[in-house]
Amino acid sequence: MKAVVYQGPRSVEVRDVPEPKIEETTDAIVKITTTNICGSDLHMYEGRTNVEEGKILGHENMGVVTAVGPGVTRVKEGDRVSIPFNIACGSCRNCERGWTSFCLRANPIEGMDGAAYGYANMGPYDGGQAEYLRVPWADFNLLDLPPGDEYENDFTMLSDIFPTGWHGTELAGMREGDRVAVFGAGPVGLLAAHSAVIRGASEVYVVDKERDRLAMAEKIGTIPIDLSEADPVEQIMDRTGGTGADCGVEAVGYQAHDHTGEEHPELVLDNLVKVVRSTGGIGVVGVYLPEDPGAVNEQAKQGRIAWDYGSFFMKGQHMGTGQAPVKRYNRQLRDLIVAGKANPSFLVSHELSLEQAAEGYEKFDRRDDGWTKVLLRP
Ligand SMILES: NC(=O)c1ccc[n+]([C@@H]2O[C@H](COP(=O)([O-])OP(=O)(O)OC[C@H]3O[C@@H](n4cnc5c(N)ncnc54)[C@H](O)[C@@H]3O)[C@@H](O)[C@H]2O)c1
Ligand SMILES: [Zn+2]
Ligand SMILES: [Zn+2]
Repeated sequence: MKAVVYQGPRSVEVRDVPEPKIEETTDAIVKITTTNICGSDLHMYEGRTNVEEGKILGHENMGVVTAVGPGVTRVKEGDRVSIPFNIACGSCRNCERGWTSFCLRANPIEGMDGAAYGYANMGPYDGGQAEYLRVPWADFNLLDLPPGDEYENDFTMLSDIFPTGWHGTELAGMREGDRVAVFGAGPVGLLAAHSAVIRGASEVYVVDKERDRLAMAEKIGTIPIDLSEADPVEQIMDRTGGTGADCGVEAVGYQAHDHTGEEHPELVLDNLVKVVRSTGGIGVVGVYLPEDPGAVNEQAKQGRIAWDYGSFFMKGQHMGTGQAPVKRYNRQLRDLIVAGKANPSFLVSHELSLEQAAEGYEKFDRRDDGWTKVLLRP
């Protein structure tokens, strides 16, 4: 079958690879109908992780089940499913409590809790930017979708970024009526903003410098803040009479940069500490890594980010972090889509064939105008 393979910094290629097989009795094989390129893939694409060459990429997957192991009883051949990016056993201590993103069993790498498809440090699992994907613990992991192909572009956001955006607002402790500041108008930030609107925010500010993304933020009923025009914290403070936001979401990650493109890994954390009121919450879903050899300073190379912890403490703020436990939200988000109350497909800018993956990566990585979210159709 064909699959998208990492070849080294800024290079991916569609190659012929062996088709996946049932390896454990609890596995299923899914024929992929849609698989997305994610901002998380770009950290690998840019050579800013230790992912190995030859890795099949892709953790935002959906499709139709074509085979199940003898231990699979719920899921059947022919089922249309969304595949959470987390691979979780369902029965360890963290899975039991709903923290499938920190499964204690799925990732064999020492000291790493949590596993995912096609991702650096997230275990030996192949990704789904391919024709077929092996899904471990299929009964537990797969979310069933209505048959057919309706809502394909909405449902494809259920494997990662819609639950992740929602999780950002949850980690921030967002409540109805809150003013919410979202940093990053990439797919994750835009869906955090969409989530905040659905959850009854009074106002949502979305900060970025990419005009096309800010225009989308405006379209979904939020207030775009262009950081290239003036300090985003001052802009939000001005618009809120100096009170700032009740809570905030970090949807940028460790490659945060200023309007000239220069990286400052602490910049967004510092901005959030300033803009969120005292006792407010900050949900960090943008990724930070324990090691980043490509970082701009010695500390950041060891994952040590010198952010304003002092003010954070003095303001009595709280922070939640980490990979999103997709299963905690995906069922309800699916139902919001079907009920017409959520439409995360507003993001989709490009639907390409798998063969066009290299172009998709290149353009999305450059944040080329209009390249907001790329879907691949194997
Ligand atoms: N926690 C999770 O489970 C999870 C899941 C998916 C993605 N992520 C992470 O979320 C982050 C965003 O993902 P994405 O797909 O939206 O990626 P993306 O790279 O497309 O979007 C990031 C956006 O942040 C903007 N940005 C950069 N510096 C900024 C700054 N100082 N202030 C405001 N905006 C700034 C960029 O212009 C870009 O539009 C990535 O780090 C990704 O790895 C985490
Ligand atoms: Zn993703
Ligand atoms: Zn587990």
